[in-house]
Amino acid sequence: MKLILLGAPGAGKGTLAAYLIDKMGVPSVSTGNILREAIKNKTALGLSAKQYMDAGQLVPDEVVIGMLRERIAQDDCKGGFILDGFPRTIPQAEALDTIAEIDCALSLEVPDEVIEARMTGRRVCLKCGATYHIVANPPKADGVCDKCGDGLHTRSDDKPDVVADRLATYHAQTEPLKGYYGAQGKLKSIDGTQGIEKTQGFAAAALGL
Ligand code: AP5
Ligand code: MG
Ligand code: ZN
Repeated sequence: MKLILLGAPGAGKGTLAAYLIDKMGVPSVSTGNILREAIKNKTALGLSAKQYMDAGQLVPDEVVIGMLRERIAQDDCKGGFILDGFPRTIPQAEALDTIAEIDCALSLEVPDEVIEARMTGRRVCLKCGATYHIVANPPKADGVCDKCGDGLHTRSDDKPDVVADRLATYHAQTEPLKGYYGAQGKLKSIDGTQGIEKTQGFAAAALGL
């Protein structure tokens, strides 16, 4: 299956993707994680992307479309994939339509009021990409990744003022994709406010897994 996860910043796309990887047996591709890796490695892509990300804005379409095209051309994506954080604009969705036949866009519905607590409690592993929450999904040992043992960090774009800008960007540029995929008969929406396990159950039911 070729699946898109739609949803506001902090809606739980990355957390749900980690569950669906095992359930569906396909890789997840997160454009945010690829960009953060580029920033960590101080590549030219990373240096140009950082200014947009720290301002809560989107990285230009032509940059992320090229990046995504290269990534899903790799062998591990031949049998399907989960897209976490792509597409985020109508031009990205139109470009994707020329690259792959998408089966479903699953939208995680979480109101803005719930997002802030999610962001302030989030801790991420920059080495393996695993995501935790100090209340909803704490690591076994404080500040240490369960999966790889690396230290956990707060994302630089999780400051409350940047979160507000990211939410505004989402509503203006990404939320219209619900209409785009709805018109193609591919949109499914689930409640993302009910805790991690329930969200997983809603997603499995919606996708027939
Ligand atoms: P990206 O990394 O994609 O960030 P985002 O879309 O803002 O989403 P997040 O990763 O913040 O949230 P999430 O939905 O994955 O939630 P998570 O599972 O972590 O993008 C970052 C930036 O990169 C963008 O702002 C942009 O600049 C750039 N970019 C990326 N892709 C781009 C593109 N295609 N085009 C242009 N620019 C692009 O969960 C959040 C927290 O909540 C965690 O702590 C988690 O443990 C917890 N949680 C999760 N689910 C639940 C639940 N059900 N109940 C309680 N807690 C939960
Ligand atoms: Mg994410
Ligand atoms: Zn890790």
